[in-house]
Amino acid sequence: MELTWYRKGTIYQIYPRSFNDKSGNGVGDLKGITEKLDYIKSLNVDIIWLSPIFSSPNDDNGYDISDYCAIMEEFGTMSDFDELLSETHKRGLRLILDLVANHCSDEHNWFKESKKSRNNKYRDYFHWVDPASDGGPPNNWKSFFGGSAWEYDKNTEQYYLHLFTKKQPDLNWENPKVREEIYNAMRFWLDKGVDGFRMDVIPLISKRKGYPDAPDFGFRKIIEDIYANGPRVHEFLREMNQKVIRQYDAFSLAEGIGINQELAGLYVNEDREELDMLYHFDVLECTIVNGKFEEEIPFDLVNLKSIFKKWRDAVHGTGWITNAMGNHDFARLVSRFGNEGKYWKESAKMLITMLATQNGTLSIYQGDEIGMTNVNLDSIDEVKDVQSINFYKESMESKKYTSIEAMKLINKEGRDNARTPMQWSEDINAGFTEGEPWLKINENYKTINVSRQDNDSNSILNYYRNLLAIRKENDVFIYGDVEELDFNSNSFYGYRKSFRDKGIIVLLNFTDKNYEYISGKGMSMDDVLINNYDNILMNEEKINLKPYQAVVFRLSD
Ligand code: GLC
Repeated sequence: MELTWYRKGTIYQIYPRSFNDKSGNGVGDLKGITEKLDYIKSLNVDIIWLSPIFSSPNDDNGYDISDYCAIMEEFGTMSDFDELLSETHKRGLRLILDLVANHCSDEHNWFKESKKSRNNKYRDYFHWVDPASDGGPPNNWKSFFGGSAWEYDKNTEQYYLHLFTKKQPDLNWENPKVREEIYNAMRFWLDKGVDGFRMDVIPLISKRKGYPDAPDFGFRKIIEDIYANGPRVHEFLREMNQKVIRQYDAFSLAEGIGINQELAGLYVNEDREELDMLYHFDVLECTIVNGKFEEEIPFDLVNLKSIFKKWRDAVHGTGWITNAMGNHDFARLVSRFGNEGKYWKESAKMLITMLATQNGTLSIYQGDEIGMTNVNLDSIDEVKDVQSINFYKESMESKKYTSIEAMKLINKEGRDNARTPMQWSEDINAGFTEGEPWLKINENYKTINVSRQDNDSNSILNYYRNLLAIRKENDVFIYGDVEELDFNSNSFYGYRKSFRDKGIIVLLNFTDKNYEYISGKGMSMDDVLINNYDNILMNEEKINLKPYQAVVFRLSD
């Protein structure tokens, strides 16, 4: 595969609401991001992905757009955006936006019009369907955020579809006018110079004819077989690619909801000209199905290795994927997969070493570079995420959980964990705002913050910087043939990689105990590319990895 800029690049995801507030209204903003561009550049990342910045009533924090070509007032103005984009480019960084094209906001003019009457010219922009014979919803589809996916409109006596909240009506992609509206919005931003889009829940855009009932086979499978991967999805994506993306030096990164390895190629194989890459949910959901807080799956390293392997094999030589283990929809990386306590630093460094050496584009999420952890919200009044709030309400109504139990689940898996404000310093409100922060700041900000780690050569932050710099110089980190080592070990993850004439070997201890890897063959202290400890206990026969130790050796030819 040709290592184009977007394949080689590392993506840094910003959740603007929680990044840096310059205006003092307690909400992060565009000027705040511009102020931190030098910091972002210092991470050695290449592409900034902004979660939605468009006008929105914020039912789902911007994932409910009321105007695709305007900036959310709380975040600033269009000229703030223009400045951010030009300052980004000046630093040799790229910028991609979050395109939410499966649905918009019920406060978007299209929906307001469409609600007025059955004959309104915007009626067909949405999925309006007659009630079932008993007057109830047309089918049994559930919203991703709880309850029915249909909302009744008394005035026009039909239901509209909303796979997310009822304030996020699904757009009808069958209607060519809808597609043209979205393409025009994309062109508007591309003409300004943005470098591409992350495409929110894009596999959901084509609905199945007649809206068939979902069989009772588990939410994940329902997503795959009923909500996602509809009959015209590939046709739509190809059209979008040809009419828009390919006309620019831009790329598309899909949120691959409902895409499994068998289907991956249909979306991202290069010769199909649909999407440039996708991130799948198998790693992110290897311990939990997003939003299904109670359905925990114990962490299993062999399973994680198989997921990486299967996905690698699924697209090898033909297509491309992105690797992410954290974003704004999941609890914090180090809290979920690492060790928040004694080995906080070591485990955070080990996890990023693993991700940065997997085939594909690397995507990291704000705050993970300083090892930010989950937050503890004391009561439902402190919870801001609509998914968690709905889960809490349903739990109280059904009496399935007590309030304490529900809060415990929300604190463990809820999306607010990843959305607490960025911890810049020990100053008041972690240096995030001079106002009242929109979401509680994690109490640990005095110990976990950027300013403390900036000058500490041993910090997680400086490890990220160093690792990402090494990754830039070594394409074998990004791509190559992989040979697994001790695949069945549930404590150790190791692999050899080779690309063109270069090779590396990656050794990762996933436990808080020492791990003895029996072989020192081809490895020498002189060839260490990165190590999250000061030294390595090794001789020709074995390497003794300390708890959560991660080492990458360059392999001599
Ligand atoms: C995606 C977003 C998530 C949002 C949902 C609905 O999964 O990442 O934050 O709630 O789509 O737009």
